[in-house]
Amino acid sequence: MDFVFANQDSSGWIGPEVFDLTKPRYLWGRYLFLFGVIQLIEYDPSIADSAIPQIWKFVELAHTMLQNNEGMDIWGQTRWGDFVMVLEWLYEHYPNDNEDLLVDTMSLLKANGTRWDEVLSQSVFPTVAVENLPNPFNNPLVWHGVNMAEGLKSGAAAYRYTHNETLLDLMSNGWDLLFEYHGRPSGIFAADEHLAGLQAIRGTELCVIVETMFTGSYLFQVSGDTKFADRAERIAYNALPAQLTGTMWSRQYLQEQNQVAARNMTDNPFPSDGPYSNVFGLEPNYPCCTVNHPQGYPKFVTNAFVTTPDKSSLVHVYLGPFATQTTLANNNNVNVSVDTMYPFADTLTTTINADQAFTYYVRVPSWVPNATIAVNGGNPEAVSPQNGLQSIQVGAGTTTLVMDVTPEITLEQRPENSIAVHRGPLHYAFDISRNYTVLKQNAMQPLAVDLQFLYTDTWEYAIDPDTITFNYDPPANGTLPSPIYDHELPPMSMTVTACQITWGLGGETFADSPPENATCSGSPMNITLWPYGATKLRIGEFPTFKAND
Ligand SMILES: *[C@@H]1O[C@H](CO)[C@@H](O)[C@H](O)[C@H]1NC(C)=O
Ligand SMILES: *[C@@H]1O[C@H](CO)[C@@H](O)[C@H](O)[C@H]1NC(C)=O
Ligand SMILES: *[C@@H]1O[C@H](CO)[C@@H](O)[C@H](O)[C@H]1NC(C)=O
Ligand SMILES: *[C@@H]1O[C@H](CO)[C@@H](O)[C@H](O)[C@H]1NC(C)=O
Ligand SMILES: *[C@@H]1O[C@H](CO)[C@@H](O)[C@H](O)[C@H]1NC(C)=O
Ligand SMILES: *[C@@H]1O[C@H](CO)[C@@H](O)[C@H](O)[C@H]1NC(C)=O
Ligand SMILES: *[C@@H]1O[C@H](CO)[C@@H](O)[C@H](O)[C@H]1NC(C)=O
Ligand SMILES: *[C@@H]1O[C@H](CO)[C@@H](O)[C@H](O)[C@H]1NC(C)=O
Ligand SMILES: *[C@@H]1O[C@H](CO)[C@@H](O)[C@H](O)[C@H]1NC(C)=O
Repeated sequence: MDFVFANQDSSGWIGPEVFDLTKPRYLWGRYLFLFGVIQLIEYDPSIADSAIPQIWKFVELAHTMLQNNEGMDIWGQTRWGDFVMVLEWLYEHYPNDNEDLLVDTMSLLKANGTRWDEVLSQSVFPTVAVENLPNPFNNPLVWHGVNMAEGLKSGAAAYRYTHNETLLDLMSNGWDLLFEYHGRPSGIFAADEHLAGLQAIRGTELCVIVETMFTGSYLFQVSGDTKFADRAERIAYNALPAQLTGTMWSRQYLQEQNQVAARNMTDNPFPSDGPYSNVFGLEPNYPCCTVNHPQGYPKFVTNAFVTTPDKSSLVHVYLGPFATQTTLANNNNVNVSVDTMYPFADTLTTTINADQAFTYYVRVPSWVPNATIAVNGGNPEAVSPQNGLQSIQVGAGTTTLVMDVTPEITLEQRPENSIAVHRGPLHYAFDISRNYTVLKQNAMQPLAVDLQFLYTDTWEYAIDPDTITFNYDPPANGTLPSPIYDHELPPMSMTVTACQITWGLGGETFADSPPENATCSGSPMNITLWPYGATKLRIGEFPTFKAND
């Protein structure tokens, strides 16, 4: 940040110039830099003294550029909501007596930005993979996964200054359409560049995952609808870790819900991405996700607690081992610490220290049927959440909450009559045994390796969902292994009766779609299902059979 600001142009422009003048100054890359500056200021407000005047200088330039019809390319147009969010943050914290200029800049962005309200309307929303559909919009990026993940914030950002609830409703409906027609049991949607439908062999880009998590946090905060938080949490504990090795030194560009190899692919099932996309490595296919993915968990954690708009209450949004220290309205200093192995446990023990009494809220996930909370060692009481949040009156001093969030095992119908298995926040998959080959090693950092994974065991199974039993083997020392998201490390698993079936490969590198009417070629046997995020080769959508027929 210091470097970028130290090199700010006298006009206010930040970042590199295009010296050969082959393209004009485009605003888009600055949206992201400013998000980063905001996070630094939230962490250390003393940075604001020097940074805010420089941000303002840039904003005044951006306003003039937009008035002159300058500054927008197709990326800046799809992601206009991100810049509006930055301007709204300035409006709330550092308005500089110039609110009108901020709102005018927001309006110019919206006027020239992608009409997400139209893109997300039901009548034109694509219900299948888009590669063979004519795109009715003049920007090819509107059906591109990462742009969709980011663009879904725009209507909420615009709602905040227009108060037009239709915009917010269209984002909420668009979110539902996206997952209905392109969703995955891992929580995310498929877009191997562009929206990719429901088939388990199609890919999801890592950037789609981290951007959708951030968008889910924002949409919850603007709308108050906990469906967004439920999904962001599901993605954080399933789709995101599945795309990284346990150590996080290698990542894929694309993951598949059913993934029997991670290698340079022939045949390649992804219409717009290269054959190296699903190797685990430093920067397979394209480097963007290497730089982008480390914002996923930090933003998830920083959005785990929020305040109510009047700042008198604290809301615990994401369940997990998180803590916060803050000052609420009336100078009420509050510390909260959550002790839990969630999502690898069903209880959370929260210790709250507060100067004054206040109302505390905790999100009750939609997948928990009978949550209870015991306050200060009292009896567990059934919760009665409103809009997904349970309120608890907390006194001054120390309060302890023990929350039970035991979920049920649920099945999700998938294409070709296949099913996916869930238990609460975690999706479960067959973890295919693998061997590995180091394809490449970085000369400067030997831990950064490109890895090919091949299966070393049978993966062609149908399962009988009626036989599922849940196994929990918590660590005796009370501490989860680290890393946790790798082969057979989580303390939770399931046993299910399975039988071997005929299930072909596409090319030599990916599983065909699950056979619709599988017949057993072997006797029933038991297999183990593991949390999806810990599997690197896996089957997550299974054909079914009846073990007792
Ligand atoms: C808005 O977009 C149009 C083309 O779509 C372009 O001609 C115009 O210059 C843009 N305005 C701004 C403010 O960038
Ligand atoms: C609110 O937004 C919708 C969707 O863009 C639009 O059709 C409607 O005219 C807007 N309402 C107002 C009052 O501007
Ligand atoms: C991947 O395989 C393709 C052929 O399908 C080949 O052209 C390419 O060089 C390979 N990429 C790497 C990084 O090995
Ligand atoms: C919160 O924690 C900080 C740091 O440990 C401590 O200084 C402060 O007194 C605590 N506040 C309350 C209300 O317990
Ligand atoms: C929730 O309560 C219902 C009714 O008592 C019971 O049938 C069900 O098994 C409970 N589910 C869990 C996960 O505790
Ligand atoms: C990995 O297993 C496959 C069998 O699926 C085998 O062909 C290959 O040689 C093995 N590779 C290594 C590095 O062990
Ligand atoms: C606790 O036990 C787990 C295995 O169950 C082990 O991986 C971890 O390192 C242990 N942690 C500590 C702090 O001893
Ligand atoms: C699977 O079985 C159903 C019901 O018998 C039948 O309608 C369907 O065509 C079969 N699908 C295939 C691919 O054979
Ligand atoms: C599968 O495991 C269950 C216990 O979870 C056991 O009752 C059953 O006999 C096993 N089935 C087979 C085929 O091994």
